[in-house]
Amino acid sequence: MSIAPPVYDIRISYDENYRNGPVFGISPPPLQDTHQLVSFLGIPCRSRIGIPAGPLLNSSWIEFYSKMGFDILTYKTVRSHSHPSYQNPNCLYVPFNRPFKAEDLDSPLIATLDFHPQSMNSITITNSFGMPSQDPSVWIPDIGKAVQSLAKNQVLVVSVVGIEQPNCSMPEDFARTAKIAKEAGAMAIEVNFSCPNVKGKEGQLYQSPESSMKVLSMVRAAIGDTPLIMKIGQISDPDLAKRLLEKASPYIQGVGAINTVLGTIINSNGQPALPGAGRERSGLCGAGIRNLALQTVGILRKVIDEEKMDLSLIGVGGYNTPDDYMLFRNEGADFVMSATGAMWDPYLAYVTKQRDID
Ligand SMILES: Cc1cc2nc3c(=O)[nH]c(=O)nc-3n(C[C@H](O)[C@H](O)[C@H](O)COP(=O)(O)O)c2cc1C
Repeated sequence: MSIAPPVYDIRISYDENYRNGPVFGISPPPLQDTHQLVSFLGIPCRSRIGIPAGPLLNSSWIEFYSKMGFDILTYKTVRSHSHPSYQNPNCLYVPFNRPFKAEDLDSPLIATLDFHPQSMNSITITNSFGMPSQDPSVWIPDIGKAVQSLAKNQVLVVSVVGIEQPNCSMPEDFARTAKIAKEAGAMAIEVNFSCPNVKGKEGQLYQSPESSMKVLSMVRAAIGDTPLIMKIGQISDPDLAKRLLEKASPYIQGVGAINTVLGTIINSNGQPALPGAGRERSGLCGAGIRNLALQTVGILRKVIDEEKMDLSLIGVGGYNTPDDYMLFRNEGADFVMSATGAMWDPYLAYVTKQRDID
């Protein structure tokens, strides 16, 4: 039997999903009792399970997933100005029957809408949105609504990005966007330092510890003592991890890894699978990137422990089943978040909690 279609409808545009979603026929399960609250960057929280920036487009999406038992909810990355999404399709299946090794990504990967996954472990996708954002006049009140929709001891994180603009440097744009998000009601701010789908310098900021530090210091000054998370991409070099965390740790409370992993995506005719210039390469996520995410989490854990840094580690990438949650916890993640998994299985937090594994 095939897995049911995702809550985020990958056959329609981002704008339609924003306006009309989430569409899901079944009423949510009752929120489970929490035996013990945990501290998420100092905020009391019902569990260690969340959704990273991506599938939660606005307050309607946040409300739905909070009712499904995800307790740390990240509002999809916002900008200081409105920005359109790339054209539909934005997500395609990448049929691949095992987690990627680094060398698998050297060759093009075939992607299609026409695939019927038989298990959560066969759901790997590519996503390519270009970090769309509503204007702040839309997302500011919507963040307020999102906060109101949460149950007690659930947490709203808002992901932000900044870009170089004629009257504003990239760090300044990050800082002002973070400040507005905080004032709108964000309980924690996440800076997105890795987005393979955008072409500007902000795309892979985490690769430069020095530039990352410049942004973080300005964001920290702008948001006072609100908890700050740095979201980064895949790292296989322990030395880069150490240099990055050394520069970043004075300013942040948490590090989230990983964002999507870049691949070359073609259709079955060998042509670029996503329409429009500049989309030949796009971000991979879901089951396929799990081992790369676990490897990065392991490297970060080691640095945090060896350097005795006061940092929480958020594991992201291929948490599609409750077993995956355990793998991330065993690798040293303090919190674990699912984007692709939660899109196809909105019960993921519920069934993970039934295992009572923490
Ligand atoms: C539909 C979708 C949209 C995403 N949008 C964002 C985004 O706006 N900002 C961001 O930092 N990451 C974004 N991501 C990346 C996720 O936060 C996550 O890092 C990545 O998908 C790996 O997790 P997964 O394997 O559970 O999907 C997006 C992912 C998906 C699937």
